[in-house]
Amino acid sequence: MNTVTPTIIIGSQWGDEGKGKITDLLSNDADLIVRFQGGNNAGHTIVVGEEVFKLHLLPSGVVMGKKNCIASGVVIDPFVLLEEIEKIENRGINIDLTIDPYCHMILPYHKEIDQSSESKLGNKKIGTTGKGIGPCYADKINRTGIRFVDFLDRDQFKNLLEINVEKKNSQYENCFFSAKDIFEKYLPLIPKLGKYLGDVSGIVYKNLKSKKIIFEGAQGTMLDISHGTYPFVTSSNTISGGVFTNVGFPPMNLNTVGIVKAYTTRVGSGPFPTELNDEMGEQIRKVGHEFGTTTGRPRRCGWLDLELLKYANRLNGFKQIALTKLDVLSGIEKIKVATSYKLNEKLMGYPLTVSQLESVSPVYKEFPGFEFDQDISDYNKLPKEAKEYIEFIEDQLNVPVKIVSTGPKRQQTIVR
Ligand code: GDP
Ligand code: IMO
Ligand code: MG
Repeated sequence: MNTVTPTIIIGSQWGDEGKGKITDLLSNDADLIVRFQGGNNAGHTIVVGEEVFKLHLLPSGVVMGKKNCIASGVVIDPFVLLEEIEKIENRGINIDLTIDPYCHMILPYHKEIDQSSESKLGNKKIGTTGKGIGPCYADKINRTGIRFVDFLDRDQFKNLLEINVEKKNSQYENCFFSAKDIFEKYLPLIPKLGKYLGDVSGIVYKNLKSKKIIFEGAQGTMLDISHGTYPFVTSSNTISGGVFTNVGFPPMNLNTVGIVKAYTTRVGSGPFPTELNDEMGEQIRKVGHEFGTTTGRPRRCGWLDLELLKYANRLNGFKQIALTKLDVLSGIEKIKVATSYKLNEKLMGYPLTVSQLESVSPVYKEFPGFEFDQDISDYNKLPKEAKEYIEFIEDQLNVPVKIVSTGPKRQQTIVR
């Protein structure tokens, strides 16, 4: 039997690198697409012709009509998921979906705790999406969370809700929840979502060697709970190794595709050494439509950061890079790339503490600008300055750039 190496799509920066577009593209010849961490803090955009799909929980394989799974590492807001399923089905797409029963549920008190904790932090806030992600993962780790398997058992669900609601109401001043109200509101969802539940870990294991599987990461490496810019991170492991525990299959070789945006963006607070708080940053935000898919917040923009990408490569082991949004740099006269950091005149590399990261000065290499059309599909037709930019990234990271994305649409892509 032929063995197929599974592909994993990983954001190399602070999210929104274009994972949705690349997952959709690679789904064309895949059999199964699996989301394995995060929740509806994610927003993955796929553009097909004039149609735009913004997915928060469903794997990007739904757009191509492939089989999709949501693995146990994902936290699910059931109302958001149902709404997303309905929206996609209303657009004439049949959804083939399996959800792992060990997925934890985001409940109303998680959202309240997320939002009120943030407002209390004032100018120290993390800038979360307010979707209840952190508090839901906290309950999972505390062993008090409610999983879909508990939800299916009405008595168990009721019992766990009562325990949780009582605890949250007594621990948090803004929590005045009623377990009964939540129970009654969520009860009708049991048959609607119950039909999707199945053993995702088992499905993946059974198909690992014979089917083409894509694991679709959410967020980005620098938002990883352990290795990112803590505490300005999300609450899951976003790096490639996390897939094994988040899905539940043995460690193996993966075709790890690092999604690298041709510049850097970040939503929310936290250090960002190459951030541009000037007209250039404004121009990139405008041309790149850098506004959050989930919250609509303007994304902070800055130059590409190779120090950060080397760290991301070390953590993930990229086998190839998909360089996205190169077209956004088209027309800029001089483009900068950070090649290292300096702190008190000393060269520094990752990992750095958050306070070091806030104080470093990036050392930049300047590149001549380039201009090209978004519909370009032949690498050789790119201006030589654009190729120089791409090949510099490739050399520095020692990873081939196999895909260059030159626009949001499927066909606006160069495959080398
Ligand atoms: P994700 O979270 O990593 O899937 O990325 P998002 O969907 O949140 O943000 C990426 C945005 O850039 C979306 O609006 C995409 O449609 C768009 N996009 C993706 N690739 C390209 C590209 O190569 N060029 C341009 N101009 N836009 C792109
Ligand atoms: P995709 O998958 C960009 C950021 C938030 C905040 C931090 C913690 O579209 O790339 P959370 O709500 O997760 O507790 O917020 O993480 N964040 C993202 N930033 N893209 C995302 O997802 C993100 N998901 C979370 O802005 O800084
Ligand atoms: Mg996004």
